[in-house]
Formats: sequence, structure tokens, C-alpha cells
Amino acid sequence: MSSVNSERIPNNVHLGDDKRLQRALEAWQPNYIQWWREMGPSGFQEDLVYLRTAVGVDADGWAHFDYVKMPDYRWGIFLADRVPGRTIGFGDAYGQPAWQQVPGEHRNALRRLIVTQGDTEPASVEQQRMLGQSCPSMYDLRNLFQVNVEEGRHLWAMVYLLHSFFGRDGREEAEELLARRSGDSSKPRMLGAFNEPCTDWLSFFMFTFFTDRDGKFQLLALAESGFDPLSRTTRFMLTEEAHHMFVGETGVLRIVERTAQAMAESKKDHPDDVRKLGVVDFPTLQKYLNLWYSLSLDLFGGEISSNAASFFATGLKGRAKEEQFDDHSALTGAYSMDVPKEGTFERQEVPLRNAMNEVLRDAYVDDCQRGVDKWNRAIAAHGVPVRLTLPSRRFHRHIGIYAGLHADPDGNLLTREAWDARRETWLPGEADCAFVRNLMTRAVLDPRQMANWIGPPKQGIKGRPIDFEYVRHCEG
Ligand SMILES: [Fe+2]
Ligand SMILES: [Fe+2]
Repeated sequence: MSSVNSERIPNNVHLGDDKRLQRALEAWQPNYIQWWREMGPSGFQEDLVYLRTAVGVDADGWAHFDYVKMPDYRWGIFLADRVPGRTIGFGDAYGQPAWQQVPGEHRNALRRLIVTQGDTEPASVEQQRMLGQSCPSMYDLRNLFQVNVEEGRHLWAMVYLLHSFFGRDGREEAEELLARRSGDSSKPRMLGAFNEPCTDWLSFFMFTFFTDRDGKFQLLALAESGFDPLSRTTRFMLTEEAHHMFVGETGVLRIVERTAQAMAESKKDHPDDVRKLGVVDFPTLQKYLNLWYSLSLDLFGGEISSNAASFFATGLKGRAKEEQFDDHSALTGAYSMDVPKEGTFERQEVPLRNAMNEVLRDAYVDDCQRGVDKWNRAIAAHGVPVRLTLPSRRFHRHIGIYAGLHADPDGNLLTREAWDARRETWLPGEADCAFVRNLMTRAVLDPRQMANWIGPPKQGIKGRPIDFEYVRHCEG
């Protein structure tokens, strides 16, 4: 039931049949555009960017590629097709028909889930707004903007649900989503990682690999929701999210390859010497990885969580790919985890429903490891004896049972003093950030060029060459 149409808000939800909703969204739209102009990419707003736009949900042909000025991007509302006879796949309401309306008793919890997801979307655009000014190539610049406009569309997706199903509170929440600001001390975004600065391209690629991947797993869990419109919305968002994963994974891969190649050619391996080659040394890469991975682990919430248990029990949020599990009630199982106790760890059996955040985090960690393995194979292919690793999930945590501990990347507990003394061997320090910033100051806007610190991509976008003019500057 895909549809391309000429309405102000492209959609496949028959928006034209619901005048009240259409008016509400059309009233929100100018505020959104104002937010985009203020908090979206700095510069380039009048340039033509070769972008993908969602125009429907058919597997072959859901997107259209063409040049567009970002403020003219057609942010639309698309839900994956309805699965006839869909039933709830987990929790206490297992097997009952999926809800097409919000059940009164779940209204607040559902709104909270939708607002929390929605808040991350504009937050990441705000975090990334300066990056165009230091892009390593036009290809990368275009990918940055592609991610940005799609995060904007994801905001639209959540705002559609708020406006359609939550009445006045929904409309107020939609306004608030445009009012909070990433990193602002008085009105910050809701989740920690989305308030961290992301002002260099190494951070951007780590962010899209690690933090967008949290998004992927949250969307997978919400795609299982008993609230069918949320399930259908998030299923379609996952289609776009795949590209964000690609940008992060290949971005880091190209940096890693470039560094390994420079090290192999020069036969240098001391980080100071490697830096002099104009590439990112591996200790610095590892520190950025440690930072964004640990910040992203926090996004899954506490290891032992009564909220997670109740979201699962009530059918609001399942596990990623719930169908792969045998027992969809999760009433009897237990999850065995190391819980901190008196300066050490004690093995505890946590009722499975209370450990649902950890179950989702496990799937995430596996998926991250797969990417890291790929990077390591690329390093090994150049004969460089370095391996990147994911730190222990006890390292540098701010949420959950490991918050406030002083664990090293192997998970061993240290005193605060010992941890502080070694902090800058594990996490980017002032000098590392300054090095990365200086390395990546200059925007490379000649389509035939690529910054020295990153390798070329394997191929261009949508069959275009790598040196295609993905962003076309418009005078005046
Ligand atoms: Fe998103
Ligand atoms: Fe994303």
C-alpha cells in the first residue's frame, strides 16, 4: 500500500482522510522546519544534496534518489504494511490480537517509550550539526546529511504516533521534542549519550556504529510491540537505520585500513610516529571506541529493571527478534549476572523479565563484536599486530549496577585513585581530542579528493562513482 503523493506531508497512513490529524501535523511542520534551520546542519542548507527519500514501503522501490536542498526534503510518514491477523508475540497478553488503539491502562508507559525514542532522533542531528565543516570527502558529507535527514524523519514517525494516539498530551510532547537541546544544561535531551559532543569525524563514525546501533536494537524491540502502529512504524525505520549502521561500520573500517596501511608502508608503530604520518594511531582509536561503546551500553538501561519487566509483561516492548525464543512468557527463566557486592562481584539469578534490558544488551554486544572482528581482519591483512577490543561492560558505566564502579577495560575493580591515574590510557584525554580535531579541521570538498586519515569507500552511492558530486554548491 505504498503511495507517492503530492501532499504537503508524504504518507501512507491516509492522512488526507483525517483532517484533524492533518491540521495538527501541518501546524507542527513549520516549527520542525524552524528547528531544522536552527539546529540542523550548519551550512550547506542551500546546497543540492544527492539524497535518498522514503516514498513508500515496498521492499523494492521504497526510496527515491535525487538532488534536494535539505530544508525542502520531503519528510514523510510511513508505516510498514499491516500484517493481517497479527497477534501479540510475548508477555501476559501473548496470542491476543495486536492493539490498533492505545489501551487506556498502558497509555502512560507507551507515551514514555515513544517520547524516549523520539528524543534521540533530533538529538543526534544537533550533536552532528558542525560536522559538515570538517568532512573528509564529499561522499562522507552526503552520508552525514543522509543520516541527518533520516533522523529527522524518525522524529516525524514518533510525532505522528503522539499526535494520532495521545491527544493533547501527545501534542505537548511533540512540541517538547523540538524544545530540548542536546548538551544544554537547562533543557537537555533525555539520554546521556545524546548530550555528549560529537564534533569530529572519528566520534561521528563511532557514534553511528555504536550509538545508532543502540537505536537499531531499541527499534527491533519496539517492532515487537503489541501496539501495532508502533510496531509498523519502527519496522520501517529499521530499513533506513541499516544505512546508518553502514556509515559507522565502513567509516571506522576505512580509518582503520588507512592507519594500518600507513603503518605497514612506513614500518612505524610508535603512536607518536604514526600520528606524524597524518593518520589516527590505534591507541587513540581504541579510546574513542571505549568511550562511545560504554556511553551506548548505558542506553539500554539498568541490568535489573522493574520497568523492563513491566514493558515485557504488558506487551509493550519485546526482545529483538522475539520469534527466535521458545518461551514468550519469560515467567520462569532466570538470567545469571555478576552483581557488585562489597568490593567484588557475586553471581545472582535475576528473574528473566527483570533482566530484559540485559538480554537486549547481549544481542547488541554480539552485533558490535561482529563489526570489531571485521575491523581487526582489515588490520591483520596489513600485517599490523594490533587488535581493537570491546571493553568489559563494567567499564565506564553511568547507569545500572556497574554505575560508579571503577573497573578497568578488562572489568577488574580498581580504587578511584588508580582508575583516575589511568583514565587517559583508556578514554580520550585533552591531548587526544586536540590531535583528532587538528587532524580533521579542513573540509575536503573536491569530489576527487579524500582526507589523508581515511581510506576511500569500496563504492559510491546508488551506483554513482566515488568521486561523484554528491553535494552541489548553489550560488546565492
Ligand atoms: Fe533514528
Ligand atoms: Fe540512526
